[in-house]
Amino acid sequence: MKKKLYVSGQWQETKDYAELFSPYSNEKIGEIPKASVSDVEAAIEAASNAQEAMEALTAYERAAILEQLVALFIEHKEQAAKIIAQESAKPLKFALGEIERTIETYKFAAEEAKRLSGEMIPMDAAKGGSNRLAYTMREPLGVVVAITPFNFPQNLVAHKVGPAIAAGNTVVLKPASQTPLSAFFLAELLDQTDLPKGAFNLVTGSGRTVGDVLVESDQVKMVTFTGSPAVGKGIRDKAGLKKVALELGSNAGMIVDEGVDLDVVVEKAIAGAFSNQGQVCISLQRIYIMDSLVDEFLSRFKTAASQLVIGDPLDAKTDLSAMISKQEQERAVQWVKESVDEGATLIAGGTVEDEVFQPTILSNVATDSKVSCQEVFAPVVIVNAIQSVEQGINEINNSDFGLQAGIFTNDIKTAFHASKKLQVGGVLINDIPTFRVDQMPYGGVKESGNGKEGLKYAIEEMTEMKLVIWNQS
Ligand code: SIN
Repeated sequence: MKKKLYVSGQWQETKDYAELFSPYSNEKIGEIPKASVSDVEAAIEAASNAQEAMEALTAYERAAILEQLVALFIEHKEQAAKIIAQESAKPLKFALGEIERTIETYKFAAEEAKRLSGEMIPMDAAKGGSNRLAYTMREPLGVVVAITPFNFPQNLVAHKVGPAIAAGNTVVLKPASQTPLSAFFLAELLDQTDLPKGAFNLVTGSGRTVGDVLVESDQVKMVTFTGSPAVGKGIRDKAGLKKVALELGSNAGMIVDEGVDLDVVVEKAIAGAFSNQGQVCISLQRIYIMDSLVDEFLSRFKTAASQLVIGDPLDAKTDLSAMISKQEQERAVQWVKESVDEGATLIAGGTVEDEVFQPTILSNVATDSKVSCQEVFAPVVIVNAIQSVEQGINEINNSDFGLQAGIFTNDIKTAFHASKKLQVGGVLINDIPTFRVDQMPYGGVKESGNGKEGLKYAIEEMTEMKLVIWNQS
């Protein structure tokens, strides 16, 4: 139960520990080290020292290490999923789904390690460039700091650790304080691979102490962060000239045009709005549906939401469980109350029963209500009527965020138009904005952040391009 820091391939004790509790049962599930400043500095030093060994590995060897990790995750799938369910209250079936995705993410990382290449530059296309042979190479950056969120405690770690290793970097990981157990499990698995000691280090503890030392260190070459805009902006301010990749969430929206199959839309919207208790950066938070469909949609949507199985995350039948903390649950209740005071209609939910915030549907929500314009990160979705698809596009764009958006339509011109006009990183035609597979480019515009994840794209972010020119004259 008492965990140790993982630094330079060694398990290390520290002075202070924090107790960790299950968000659903409130039972104590761990004692987590609170790394001191010198612990964090030691982890950075270890990563820096291991860089030479990492750079000496061939692409084949880096891919082989990632494949070893894949095999270990396959062997320990159930255990890894149970840890996620215990520490984050993600229902077991979704936790298993997350481990399946984690396996794919590391597989893609292994494949991309072998594809890392540059390009030939046609130097003689310029007047003064004749008799020169030129090409680009991609080189590792060095120490990459990964700061990861609670909502996908294995797969969003994989999206940082996988490409970092594939590119030949070393890593210091600081997982979310609510979900460190998955990161300790990853460290146990990586310890069994041929990864050079010190190439992966794990430090846990307070965001201020650990995060600030990591972000401000001159030895660190890149920070890759997933979490809130406020923390992301703080990281950018403190990071100096190092590279920073930020994935900062959204209030993702979807448009429903006339003529589409409402049963399909309802089924997908249930998954989009309520999976992982809505604690997903691309959770479906705003539905803009043509006026003629709104009543029928709300009636079917409410019925489908009432059929979700709510309860213990460790029960294989559960669809929806507790949010990550009581404070977050209370915040969500408060935001829903505020929206009703501001004129919204509560269609379902809005309360906490048996530790679980119930799936919540609101309609006629004011644009400036928090549940509409901020990231709610809870099982809350708003359904507003629109008179035209254009109005829906404007509503979605009227946001500080822009990660992904969806549109259901049978009209190809409307789909084309929406894909051009929506101000987001990814547009989903005839799907929810919550759709993601792990090799696709993923990242937002506006306050949703910068930089792209998805293995190929993350590896580009985690490498430096070097140009080599041979003068043949
Ligand atoms: C996120 O919450 O940003 C990740 C969503 C996903 O990977 O499905």
